[in-house]
Amino acid sequence: MAFDRAIKIAPSILSADFANFGAEIRAIEDQGCDWVHVDVMDGHFVPNLTFGPAMCKAIRPHIRTVMDVHLMIAPVDPYIEAYAEAGADVITAHLEAGPHIHRTLQAIRGAGAKAGVALTPATPASAIAHLADMIDLVCVMTVNPGFGGQKFIHSQIDKVRTLREFIGDRPIHIEIDGGVTPTTAPLVSAAGADVLVAGSSVFSGGSVSDPDIYGRNIATLRRAAQTA
Ligand code: DX5
Ligand code: ZN
Repeated sequence: MAFDRAIKIAPSILSADFANFGAEIRAIEDQGCDWVHVDVMDGHFVPNLTFGPAMCKAIRPHIRTVMDVHLMIAPVDPYIEAYAEAGADVITAHLEAGPHIHRTLQAIRGAGAKAGVALTPATPASAIAHLADMIDLVCVMTVNPGFGGQKFIHSQIDKVRTLREFIGDRPIHIEIDGGVTPTTAPLVSAAGADVLVAGSSVFSGGSVSDPDIYGRNIATLRRAAQTA
């Protein structure tokens, strides 16, 4: 995974057909997405339940791009090894998920994956001030984690700007997760984000038998972000 700041569109398979992940992933990759975002929820840290490591392992052979695993679980440390073994390229843990995010990030890199830290809307940018050397990605949640299809929280744009300034030349991606649409994409890319997670706005209207719609949705988001 070479580092660059080009806009990357990362569809969240939370909005895909759960009975057909292999075909859904092939469809979004054929239609030009850059990463595949996998939302892992535990019904405890967030009020929703999704996939475990076995599921991630099963879909891994279908992913040719980057498997971006977003862990919304607490505790997180006992499961890192399993998600790394399942083939995650990036593993992102929440700063709010436990008392020792520093240890968690060490464990992620130690397991051979790129390390991401996610911040919920109430957590300030300054929370990562002492983590810069141990992260490859910071994920700014622009909705409260737990569900797709929520409304973008505009107060997070300032946070993205502050993070972008703080990051400077460091090879750290800024990922936006939640409520990304052709209207909000340019706002976050102008503020400094480079990875845009999008569930509803990629999958809505399309299907594996009508994948061109996915392609159009991805291209529209990318164009909107690039024209910022
Ligand atoms: C929310 C998840 C997001 C979500 C994005 O907890 O982390 O990845 O699926 O969905 P949309 O793009 O529909 O807001
Ligand atoms: Zn996510």
